[in-house]
Amino acid sequence: MSEIIPAMLVDSEQEFRDKVAKMGAIVKSIQVDVMDGTLVKNTSWADAATVKAMSLPYRIEAHLMVENPAKAAADWIAAGAETIIPHAEAEGWRDAARLAREAGRKAGVAINPDTSIAVLADDMALIDMVLVMGVTPGWSGQSFQPVALEKIGELRRSYPELKIEVDGGVGFMNAHELAAAGADSLVAASALWKADDFETTFRELNEAATV
Ligand code: DX5
Repeated sequence: MSEIIPAMLVDSEQEFRDKVAKMGAIVKSIQVDVMDGTLVKNTSWADAATVKAMSLPYRIEAHLMVENPAKAAADWIAAGAETIIPHAEAEGWRDAARLAREAGRKAGVAINPDTSIAVLADDMALIDMVLVMGVTPGWSGQSFQPVALEKIGELRRSYPELKIEVDGGVGFMNAHELAAAGADSLVAASALWKADDFETTFRELNEAATV
C-alpha cells in the first residue's frame, strides 16, 4: 500500500493551522511545500521555526522548491523535518542532500516532468528517495503528466530498494496505477483539501492506493 501524504501548500500561517486542524490524528506524514518564487513561479508560507513550535504529531517532509536549497535544508533540519527534498533543477541540491544525511535525516531529490531521471544516475548514492513530480511545480490542481508514470516504472526497475514518491496531479483517477507502478507514497493537495470530508477522503484515497 502506498502512503498518502497531504501536501501543505499554503499562503499563510493561519491556512497551515486550519489544515492541521482538518487532518487531526489520522495522518502520519505531511509534506511542507517551500517555494521561493524563483525556482518555481509561486511563493508559499513555510516558516520552519513556526512549524517547529507547533510540535506537530506528524513526520515532516520539506519539499524545497527553492534556488538555494542548502539554506532551507538547514532550517528544516533544525525544525525536525525527517526528509529533506531539494530539486534536481536547483544548483546546490547535492549540498542539501548531504546536510540531511549528516544530520541523520533522509535525503530525497525531486525531479520535474521535463527533467530526465538520467541526471540522477551518478548521484544515487547520495539519496534515499526520489520525488517524481507529476506536474511542473508551482500550483495545486494541475493535471498529472503521464511521463511521471514512466519514470516511476523505470526507477523501480533500476533501483528496487529506492523509496519512490509522487507529487502533483495525484487523485482517485491514478492513485491505484501509481501504487501498482511502484510508488511507495503519493503526495496530494487538491484531492484531499477540496473534499468536503477530509477524513473520509483520506481513508478512501489510501484504500485506492492499495495494491
Ligand atoms: C507542486 C506542489 C504539489 C502540489 C500538489 O506544485 O509541490 O504539492 O501542490 O497539488 P495537487 O495534488 O493539487 O496536484
